[in-house]
Amino acid sequence: MEIANDMPNIPRTQIDNSMAKAKPLKLGWSTEETETIAKVLNQLLANYSVHYQKLRNYHWNVKGSDFFDLHERFEQQYNEARINIDEIAERIRVFGKVPLSTMREYLETAEIKETGSDLPSDLMVREVLSDFRVLLESMFDVVDVAVDLGDSGTEEMIKGFIHDIEKHHWMLSAFMAK
Ligand SMILES: [Fe+2]
Repeated sequence: MEIANDMPNIPRTQIDNSMAKAKPLKLGWSTEETETIAKVLNQLLANYSVHYQKLRNYHWNVKGSDFFDLHERFEQQYNEARINIDEIAERIRVFGKVPLSTMREYLETAEIKETGSDLPSDLMVREVLSDFRVLLESMFDVVDVAVDLGDSGTEEMIKGFIHDIEKHHWMLSAFMAK
């Protein structure tokens, strides 16, 4: 029995050429798409990394009657920040991109700015609250891009961070209202 051959007669060289021209995909996303998501994730990574070091600064150098409360609170915050920073950097690696990894890159890229070490404790808390608002804006930017690209993994990860930081913002604001 003869098998019908409905396949068009495309030369092998032509097939190979068309495949060579196709853009490589990473987990189903194009190079442009992974660059877009890596860019906003790196922006968040830079902001978070400067914020992390500020928390360590304030943990070490806070003074005054709130010392025990704030020394402890800043430590809790930087431990959470350390874990989230790692998640963000490794998410960038998932897409085959390179996370910003040096202090110079963080300081050049971040919207969050460093402060000195000799701030009064209430100004340290105000700095942390202000940083939270910048981090949230940076996270909303990541969610917008992730939703546009159908990147559920990044969207879910960042939404968890948003939920936690909004709660920390409430608690530290309440602390300042005493
Ligand atoms: Fe400590």
